Amino acid sequence: MKEFSVSASTVNKYDIVITEDYSEFGDRFKGLFPESARVLIVTDENVCKAGYPDVIKEQLKDRYDTDVLILPPGEPTKSFEYLNKILSTLIGKKFNRNDVLIGLGGGVIGDLTGFAASIFKRGIPFVQVPTTLLSMVDSSIGGKTAIDYEGVKNSIGAFYMPSLVYAAIDSLKTLPEREYYAGFAEIMKAGLLAKESFYVWLVDHIYEISDKEPETLINMIETAQGIKRDIVAKDPFEHGDRVLLNLGHTIGHAIESYFKGEYLHGECVALGCVAAAFISWKMDMIPMELYYEIRDMFVPFNLPISFVTEDVTPMIDLLCNDKKNTGKAINMVLLKKAGKAVYVKDIDRELIKAALDELNFKEED
Ligand SMILES: NC(=O)c1ccc[n+]([C@@H]2O[C@H](COP(=O)([O-])OP(=O)(O)OC[C@H]3O[C@@H](n4cnc5c(N)ncnc54)[C@H](O)[C@@H]3O)[C@@H](O)[C@H]2O)c1
Repeated sequence: MKEFSVSASTVNKYDIVITEDYSEFGDRFKGLFPESARVLIVTDENVCKAGYPDVIKEQLKDRYDTDVLILPPGEPTKSFEYLNKILSTLIGKKFNRNDVLIGLGGGVIGDLTGFAASIFKRGIPFVQVPTTLLSMVDSSIGGKTAIDYEGVKNSIGAFYMPSLVYAAIDSLKTLPEREYYAGFAEIMKAGLLAKESFYVWLVDHIYEISDKEPETLINMIETAQGIKRDIVAKDPFEHGDRVLLNLGHTIGHAIESYFKGEYLHGECVALGCVAAAFISWKMDMIPMELYYEIRDMFVPFNLPISFVTEDVTPMIDLLCNDKKNTGKAINMVLLKKAGKAVYVKDIDRELIKAALDELNFKEED
């Protein structure tokens, strides 16, 4: 088991536990919330089928009145419709500001439940129980919560820190393989933007990672989380270096919106990282060899390095909605080397188009 306390200026301190199973969840929870009476576990149908809400509920039943709200799986659930469903359930069950929301699932459930917690009665306690690799290493850390709106990802949300993050790697056993590997995009991203030795370690440990060897997974999750934790602790509200965590996300989000669910979020981040590396090469920030090395390193982790479409122009229009843009300029995180990212303003649109064209090929070609 690995355990950390996270604190940052103006945000609460919270604990992060990375461990094998849920056996300690109940004790942790009870220690944190002695005054609470009601708990709502928000989850999705797949996580429910895998049995985790029952495991959590069993551990809380002697102390709390615990209910489970089961939502459909997938990105469309990060919407006003399901936000409303959570809020009306909380009202219906007469939750007060001492009661607790648990987000049990991947990043979709975590982002949505965290946002509901941030606005209900101006904020109620919230616990993140991430069950996907992506949510363990990334979305459960750092307090970004959101829903999508009018086709634009994460356009409505808040910074809201959880009271506890509890990641049990046992839950990865039921995760579909495609989802498991999609989590690697954020892990690779973490190495690329801040720690070259970690990126090398990942490539060296591919077999242990594929076998889900517990010690390797705990170490890997801890290191990737640690990169994010350090950056967020220094800049919780993204006024400075936190923006670097968006490596691969500017173009990645546009690809995700354009293909409307065809690619998983992590897969789009991988594509976005390849595009960012391409632009870095074309702007003479990294050598060509490093661009190809970065691109090809996603392949053994079953991540895409290309897509097929007739015209990439609509993706550039979607890029204009990115939260990091200033005025009409498109801003992006690029690479100076493996392990060193920088934020660059006003990227040439022709270069962005060239990067998207570079990704536009069939992988068998
Ligand atoms: N808040 C942040 O800082 C942040 C960072 C990165 C990504 N995100 C967001 O996270 C979301 C993607 O998260 P995700 O990749 O976890 O996707 P997800 O939440 O959609 O989960 C992926 C799939 O796996 C299923 N699932 C989850 N856990 C399972 C388990 N243990 N066993 C079996 N099935 C399981 C889910 O039902 C779903 O079908 C996106 O909306 C993205 O915007 C947020």
